[in-house]
Amino acid sequence: MICVGIEGTAHTIGVGIVDGTGKKCNVLSNIIKIYRPKQGGIHPREAANHHASYVADLIKESAEKAQVDFADIDLVSFSKGPGLGPCLRTAATAARALSLSLDKPIMGVNHCVAHLEIGRGTLDGCKDPVLLYTSGANTQITAFAEGKYRVFGETLDIGIGNCLDKFGRNMGFEFPCGPKIEELARKGKKYLELPYSIKGMDIAFSGLLTAAEQYHKKGQRLEDICYSMQETTFAALTEVTERAMAHTEKNEVLLGGGVASNKRLRNMVQIMAKERDAHFFAPSKDLCIDNGAMIAWLGLLMYNSGIRMKVEDSFIDQRFRTDMVDVSWRD
Ligand code: ATP
Ligand code: FE2
Repeated sequence: MICVGIEGTAHTIGVGIVDGTGKKCNVLSNIIKIYRPKQGGIHPREAANHHASYVADLIKESAEKAQVDFADIDLVSFSKGPGLGPCLRTAATAARALSLSLDKPIMGVNHCVAHLEIGRGTLDGCKDPVLLYTSGANTQITAFAEGKYRVFGETLDIGIGNCLDKFGRNMGFEFPCGPKIEELARKGKKYLELPYSIKGMDIAFSGLLTAAEQYHKKGQRLEDICYSMQETTFAALTEVTERAMAHTEKNEVLLGGGVASNKRLRNMVQIMAKERDAHFFAPSKDLCIDNGAMIAWLGLLMYNSGIRMKVEDSFIDQRFRTDMVDVSWRD
């Protein structure tokens, strides 16, 4: 079965094509275009205009790369939410148009669940992981329990990526700021004390962001601040992930989201996994960040399990929670 997936929750418009029977995911193509605001944060309408201007070309390019004829596509999938309304509507509109013109079924999927399923679909041995999902807007620790992906922990304020991006933006770095912060952090020597906010399995970053900015005002080295931000936030993320693993008695951990590209975060979670005798999984960077292939794959899993969606019911849902999805495709 061949499925095309359209992703458009925030900065990224992506189109991916996957093939599979429902067990292993074969990614045939996966291309993205990222909206980069000239200054400040994301402007939802401008991001949506960006997505609208690229999506048709991305669909064509994706089919060419995959060497798939439009006639061979069996299903059209799109991210239903969570995300920014104008961006979600643009991706959904493109998906509806494609579904109607090809006369093929449509499926709206949960973006956060897609981050988890692409790991299970593409990584050997990844069967029942705890997912640490760290992106710009989202920071969640989720795992399967009693028919749903439950949220065991999450940020109480901003996402970890957002925390890094806001700090970086104020320092004049180009968006996305995570890679620059990672580069500077490698040259950090001195650990500066920062707030470490964990409540149960939830976590908060805004106090740390303020404290980091104050260190900058006081003239501390940027390298030391970046190093301390990474050490503190990633330690907190690793701690809550470990707590979720202990609580659920799962022995696999999976990373997802753009911040999972960070080598130090990978390294910390990997050490934790090793110490618990658990398995560590991280998809390649193109499958960690927002992308169309993961949306296609989840659509395919849902369709194969018997779920159907009519075009007239293919609404978006800006506040679509991970635990609102009945996971009928897993045993
Ligand atoms: P979502 O809708 O999932 O919240 P998003 O638009 O934030 O999506 P992603 O592509 O998953 O998209 O993640 C982007 C985030 O990842 C940005 O905040 C960026 O700074 C961060 N990031 C990217 N590379 C790195 C890195 N090497 N280290 C730390 N953070 C990184
Ligand atoms: Fe995402």
